[in-house]
Amino acid sequence: MHPSLFLAALCLGIASAAPQLNQSLDEQWYQWKATHGKLYGVYEEGWRRDVWEKNMKMIEQHNWEHSQGKHSFRVAMNGFGDMTNEEFKQKMNGLQMQKHKKGKMFQPPLFAEIPSSVDWRKKGYVTPVKNQGQCGSCWAFSATGALEGQMFRKTGKLVSLSEQNLVDCSQPEGNEGCNGGLMDYAFQYVKDNGGLDSEESYPYHTPGSKLSYSAANDTGFFDVPPREKALMVAVATKGPISVGIDASHFTFQFYHEGIYYDPDCSSEDLDHGVLVTGYGTDVGQSYWIVKNSWGKNWGIDGYIKMAKDRKNHCGIATMASFPIV
Ligand SMILES: *[C@@H]1O[C@H](CO)[C@@H](O)[C@H](O)[C@H]1NC(C)=O
Ligand SMILES: *[C@@H]1O[C@H](CO)[C@@H](O)[C@H](O)[C@H]1NC(C)=O
Repeated sequence: MHPSLFLAALCLGIASAAPQLNQSLDEQWYQWKATHGKLYGVYEEGWRRDVWEKNMKMIEQHNWEHSQGKHSFRVAMNGFGDMTNEEFKQKMNGLQMQKHKKGKMFQPPLFAEIPSSVDWRKKGYVTPVKNQGQCGSCWAFSATGALEGQMFRKTGKLVSLSEQNLVDCSQPEGNEGCNGGLMDYAFQYVKDNGGLDSEESYPYHTPGSKLSYSAANDTGFFDVPPREKALMVAVATKGPISVGIDASHFTFQFYHEGIYYDPDCSSEDLDHGVLVTGYGTDVGQSYWIVKNSWGKNWGIDGYIKMAKDRKNHCGIATMASFPIV
């Protein structure tokens, strides 16, 4: 057979096995690719588009159900649109909760005044939303968030801290860089090393910068008893708190706005580390204010409101902790 004929036959074979695409979505697909800077090889493009179309359909379906009063939150297309839920879970999360070992227990003060709402962002405790990229380093972002808050509480200065320092150096404490880790191990590392670098001196995605350990310090950490009431007291009396959650669901991948509640969410199988920066109530439904590390285009400017006092939904109180500075 002539080589070019052979090639043509091969290509036809692949084309006929390609998924059925909806041409009326072409324009939206080009727009989406441009917005998120996506470039694919010829073969990858077909199946990525197929994944994206399936996600579009599920998003439309969910939001239609929302309009019928079936959900308390909306979802939206975002930069994860070409990822299957399986891929998303592997790439974005990275909390290794099976490793959890107990630290000192936080004793909620008995007579503390606990306000009905708290938002530490308004008090200067919280840095802008960051982006972990395709690396299972959520635990590092959750840990810096809590440490940034405690340092602000102590010094009155808000300094953005280095996740890369934690990703590169906290293996001895049990973390595994982009393959996952735990916030408590990060706090332990800061103590062991006598400090942590600032974001400025050791930026993300710049491994091997010179270490000075000069921006923050801790002397250990407290684990919060695994109850939402205790978490509420910790948030109200201490500041932003590191938590683990189950973030594995399609609804979380594409969360947009409203109070997140997914009946499939687990209170035990946690796979993502985030930061509780406060809590509040919207028309009778209470929620946790949660800072994520997926950039500002996800959720509510990078944040999510998660259902509060609904049986430890998504395990938000299961693995909470904060550093002692
Ligand atoms: C193609 O997409 C449009 C726009 O979302 C939708 O209205 C239509 O039902 C889709 N067609 C098929 C065959 O799925
Ligand atoms: C952190 O604490 C250790 C031990 O107390 C101390 O040696 C170190 O200088 C401190 N580092 C910073 C940045 O304050």
